[in-house]
Amino acid sequence: MADRIGDPTVVADNVHLTYRVHGASSGKGSATSAFSRLVTRKKAAGVTEVHAVRGVSFVARRGEAIGLIGRNGSGKSTLLRCIAGLLPPTGGKIYTDGQPSLLGVNAAMMNDLTGERNIVLGCLAMGMTKQQVAEHYDEIAAFSGMDNYNGKDFTRLPMRTYSSGMAARLRFSIAAAKSHDVLMIDEALATGDRDFQLRSEARIRELRKEAGTVFLVSHGMKSIRDTCERVIWLDAGKIKMDGPTEEVVAAYEKGV
Ligand SMILES: Nc1ncnc2c1ncn2[C@@H]1O[C@H](COP(=O)(O)OP(=O)(O)OP(=O)(O)O)[C@@H](O)[C@H]1O
Ligand SMILES: [Mg+2]
Repeated sequence: MADRIGDPTVVADNVHLTYRVHGASSGKGSATSAFSRLVTRKKAAGVTEVHAVRGVSFVARRGEAIGLIGRNGSGKSTLLRCIAGLLPPTGGKIYTDGQPSLLGVNAAMMNDLTGERNIVLGCLAMGMTKQQVAEHYDEIAAFSGMDNYNGKDFTRLPMRTYSSGMAARLRFSIAAAKSHDVLMIDEALATGDRDFQLRSEARIRELRKEAGTVFLVSHGMKSIRDTCERVIWLDAGKIKMDGPTEEVVAAYEKGV
């Protein structure tokens, strides 16, 4: 809601991120040189730099849901990792108010543990007390649908028995149980089925009302349109456009 939009939660000031890749090919990188290296068993050497984010600046405010769109490799995930504090920017500055949580990365899921244990651990990791975990447990299990999936209680089964979409649902449900200052969701919705997508979009709208800022990375323009009123379009590591969803998505769809 526009009237709730308030104080800045994330300020990115001319952010750059360059990955340094060790052991990359120092040659021109042609398929033949890679093949000849393979045959002659020579090691690739050198360091290659990938300048993934190139001078990005924006201000995100409380109450905003911001879509992040752009082609594969345009730097969306990298930018979120910088905001989450997982990658220090190689240039520029990021100021955040509160702890930004990147869905799917902050939530460390243990494959050999049951869904139930993962819910408990995930909640504790987000800073809930045991009492709060007990209060939220049923709601998380029910929201994920894993307590009764095709008639089976999957919360009693280890996570390795989950499909990737089922695991993503549980991850989202755990993260969404808490109000976040800044919640970042990287493609998580795309893996859920239609029914779960609708429920999670509704939950994102609620989280936004609870006055956090939500960043949503998606290639699905429908999710972006339904969830965000502002969109940042990244292209080759730079902001190509930043504005109202309809304007930016229309331009993106024309340009792609
Ligand atoms: N760990 C890494 N080491 C080196 N380069 C990386 C690494 N991760 C990403 N890159 C490079 O950084 C650039 C941006 O990648 P990033 O994953 O941020 O893109 P993206 O916009 O999230 O793409 P997608 O839509 O495919 O998820 C790409 O050129 C990619 O090759
Ligand atoms: Mg990505």
